[in-house]
Amino acid sequence: MKRLKKVISVSCVLSLAMTSVAMADKKDTLQQSISGYNTNAALNFSDQYAWQLFTDLNHPADLSNCGPARHKALGDDGLTVWEVWQSREETFLDGAVRPPRWREGCNDGGFYSYPEGNYSNFDDEAVRINKKAYRFIRSKQLYSLDEQERLAQDGVTDIDFPLGSKTVKAGWVKIEEADKPFYHWVEVERDDEVIIFGLSAIHIASKDFPTWFWATFEHVDNNTRWNLTYPEAFPGWVVPSKDSAACPPSNLACNQIPEGYGLEGTKWENYRLRGTQTEIVDNRGNPTILVNSHLEGVLDQESMSCISCHALAVKGESGDSMPIPITEGTNENGLPMGHIGALNPTLFLDNNGSPIPYVGLDYVWTLRNAKRENF
Ligand code: HEC
Repeated sequence: MKRLKKVISVSCVLSLAMTSVAMADKKDTLQQSISGYNTNAALNFSDQYAWQLFTDLNHPADLSNCGPARHKALGDDGLTVWEVWQSREETFLDGAVRPPRWREGCNDGGFYSYPEGNYSNFDDEAVRINKKAYRFIRSKQLYSLDEQERLAQDGVTDIDFPLGSKTVKAGWVKIEEADKPFYHWVEVERDDEVIIFGLSAIHIASKDFPTWFWATFEHVDNNTRWNLTYPEAFPGWVVPSKDSAACPPSNLACNQIPEGYGLEGTKWENYRLRGTQTEIVDNRGNPTILVNSHLEGVLDQESMSCISCHALAVKGESGDSMPIPITEGTNENGLPMGHIGALNPTLFLDNNGSPIPYVGLDYVWTLRNAKRENF
């Protein structure tokens, strides 16, 4: 009995400590999450750290300084911090033209965060890049496919983004006026018609250590509503959630939000952490799986691993910007299967078994959108 008490009090202290980190000087933690890194929290308190990133990156933005609006609270209307980061479209310009400086580019009002010119009711292609990662891409000319090839030709094996680099990928779904209170939403004008898009999914990659910290969140409707409305795009949660911040150890898929992050009563209380990934295999050698049912919805969910697939982001000396296929074979429903666990080294060899001079793009897949200098 005595022993049990001790265990409980240790875990109480721990959760109190995490809560006070969450509540502490909001200004510092916001800045830390947005441009800093926290290797300890990412590795040892992964799920709590994921929620910390989620609430800080979804804090309302101040358009004048491209950062968090200090006078606003989580859940207030308006663009969020990650929505004023540079988008993929603003980074990779035709002719591999050097994109604008961070300050010039960041206050465009969230342009390109949303489905553009795509007439479907959902879209999975909004990617945004934080200041550290953007400055790295800009200063190393990684927005040029020719430059990536020059690196491969020069024998550079890997590029290395600075710690604190962060990227986000978001998915949206068309919602109705009545849904607005339950969603982070945006209105888009199309053919004189205003369409409301609700945020349905969000991936966060944060370089807190060399193989990055991976987390993914989904709106609860992805598993109760959109899977019935759009079964092709929203196949539901095939892989159960794992959230030790919100759930008891006996039921990590409890489908709740954690306390202490200010989520209650805001639109953000309708989102769930589906899980985090810090390692390619667990301590029993089993490949770790993490998937977002919307963002990877057209693939075989059970063979999805953020780290494994992103490790295939490489560029060879010439040709394709996606030289190694990211899927291999199909499951019984015909959905493409991904690579899980440690990658097979033969993926990086040519037909004669010789290594191909690839430059590794440090897990950042969106660098495949780099442009040719002469087009
Ligand atoms: C089967 C391959 C695959 C899997 C699995 C995968 N991704 Fe990606 N991801 C991609 C590709 C390809 C892109 C590039 C999109 C583009 O062209 O901008 C991408 C883009 C991203 C981005 C934007 C920054 C970047 O690297 O381009 C983030 C963030 C991201 N993914 C996070 C995740 C997370 C978190 C998971 C796991 C839950 C995950 N991804 C699983 C293939 C994958």
